[in-house]
Amino acid sequence: MSEKIKLIQRESLKEKPDPSNLGFGEYFTDYMLSFDYDIDQGWHDLKIVPYGPIELSPAAQALHYGQAVFEGLKAYKHDGEVDLFRPSENFKRINNSLARLDMPKVDEDTLLEGLKQLVDIERDWVPEGEGQSLYIRPYVFATEGILGVRPSYSYKLLIILSPSGSYYGGDSLNPTKIYVEDEYVRAVRGGVGHAKVAGNYAASLLAQTNASAQGYDQVLWLDGVEQKYVEEVGSMNIFFVENGKVVTPELNGSILPGITRKTVIELAQNLGYEVEERRVSIDELIEAHHNGTLTEVFGTGTAAVISPVGQLKYGDTEIVINNNETGEVTQNLYDNYVGIQSGKLDDPNGWRVVVPRY
Ligand code: COI
Repeated sequence: MSEKIKLIQRESLKEKPDPSNLGFGEYFTDYMLSFDYDIDQGWHDLKIVPYGPIELSPAAQALHYGQAVFEGLKAYKHDGEVDLFRPSENFKRINNSLARLDMPKVDEDTLLEGLKQLVDIERDWVPEGEGQSLYIRPYVFATEGILGVRPSYSYKLLIILSPSGSYYGGDSLNPTKIYVEDEYVRAVRGGVGHAKVAGNYAASLLAQTNASAQGYDQVLWLDGVEQKYVEEVGSMNIFFVENGKVVTPELNGSILPGITRKTVIELAQNLGYEVEERRVSIDELIEAHHNGTLTEVFGTGTAAVISPVGQLKYGDTEIVINNNETGEVTQNLYDNYVGIQSGKLDDPNGWRVVVPRY
């Protein structure tokens, strides 16, 4: 058994929220994991501390120049045990994001061990209801107080935990309405679109607000050069069922390599679907809808899980997918994915990682 990480106890534990009304990312547990970096010591002082405000220089570089990256993963409870879902994938990806923003990489095994010990302490916070989980948010930000534009010499990594329900509220399988954004773009190749950096989400908000004002749930981004090829949705990767095949935009440098995306591709192949990762133009989709070969659209994301898309609006064209109902392929993938996560189905690929009792 690994060495126990230092724990700074809080004076009293918080009251837990009503499990029937969790929302997404609204409540936080009693403790968080904290890890610091400075140029002399490297990563040091790994500890579990009470969840609460942190002290930060007003000149901290993350606040001015946006050196900040994050991850999202989930823990589930079943049969009295708590599992993490593919956590190593998140720690691999956080290192890719850190590298892109010229921030120091962190040891993935240390993080995984720290997360297991944190979740072990917080196992009573993992909700067990249908569609519920403990959402886990690891993130790293630059803390040095200096206004010169150069990489910070100090950073903080935190992992906070939030018992959550479905991302969109209500049933995760309620079809969403998506606005195809044809004015703003999210990312270009060579930029930071493939990294999970905070600024990507800040840059998406105006389009999201405009889409919401018109009654849409999310924005579908087109490529940043020709504004012709489909890339991803605000908080999800996107999939289509076309001619019976499961199709998703290929990773091209400006699309986030989603872990749910990767899992769904593997799952679809295991279930016998043909999967294509390729460029998909918005014109192809509209045409496929008109000739009846586009039968389903769904998004995938850690927070969003597998979420059917019921409507797509592009300019003056609005298309309704599968009568605004969850399609057969989406439902099958959802049942298998959620079944494995929740422990109801076998896990032949070893995606669930049990949190030990320390
Ligand atoms: C996740 O699915 O974990 C994400 O990071 C999306 C998020 C911005 C809510």
